[in-house]
Amino acid sequence: MAFQKIPTDGELREAIATSSVWFQRWNIRQGIETPGRNDVVGIMDSAGVPADLTGRRVLDIGAYNGCVALECERRGAAEVVALDIMDPGVTGFRALAEALGSEVRWEYGTVYELDPEIHGTFDIVIFFGVLYHLRWPLLGIDRIRSVATDLVFTESHVIDRFFVHPRRWFRWLKEKEQKISSVPIWRGYRSRELHPEDASNFFGPNTSAVVCAFDDVGITTETMALWDDRASFRGVVRPGATRQHEVYEALHHATASLMGIKTVSDPLFVETNASDDKRM
Ligand SMILES: C[S@@+](CC[C@H](N)C(=O)[O-])C[C@H]1O[C@@H](n2cnc3c(N)ncnc32)[C@H](O)[C@@H]1O
Repeated sequence: MAFQKIPTDGELREAIATSSVWFQRWNIRQGIETPGRNDVVGIMDSAGVPADLTGRRVLDIGAYNGCVALECERRGAAEVVALDIMDPGVTGFRALAEALGSEVRWEYGTVYELDPEIHGTFDIVIFFGVLYHLRWPLLGIDRIRSVATDLVFTESHVIDRFFVHPRRWFRWLKEKEQKISSVPIWRGYRSRELHPEDASNFFGPNTSAVVCAFDDVGITTETMALWDDRASFRGVVRPGATRQHEVYEALHHATASLMGIKTVSDPLFVETNASDDKRM
């Protein structure tokens, strides 16, 4: 998959001008970039997203301006799906994708709706800047596991070095205080506590909490970079039973399906039931 058009500089500038909500900065070519503050390639590189995605099927969750998805196409992915609840006509994605002759497919939807029977499975899942916006972050991670077959790259707000006081001041933690970051912690935010203009920030996990949450669903994850109140992660899907299966082996059908485990007769359950180790 590759861009099908070589637009003029004027066409690219016109496409960029269709949106006033650029959050992502993406260098399209010498002298032309989208005017957001988030450096797309810098964040992808910090998480360890391969420079060559030839032949891979990629999912970009919370794609917003869509520049991560477009960069994956540029890196040679066989297919890229960009998922978001935003209108791609408003975020600038549609105009930019049309100008480039992109084949990225935009899907309206939430992370909670991911289903291998509807979306298929993905070699590479990219999950940047979404985790802390989720009311049900662990359910989101369950659903990601249901469609992921190899690598999962995450970027998130984290609280390892950073604390927001309920009275709205925040401070960077001293080195001694940061020691607690080895304990998985999901810190809840009241409405607009993290950001005065944005009520959609529900949780601030620390890096251990992110690693633990992915590990629980069978995605072995490591922290790749930690800067300010952000971190990036690289996860590898491991086959076999997970903590979900171990703990919820008698799970109600509907709950199993919410988590992305189709039925209690899932082969992974059978494998777990055969084990002597029944830790709860
Ligand atoms: C902070 S932006 C991050 C954009 C982009 N991934 C990046 O890191 O540059 C968060 C995006 O996540 C999307 N989002 C929020 N909740 C979501 C959900 N439940 N499922 C999928 N996307 C969601 C928002 O619409 C928004 O586009």
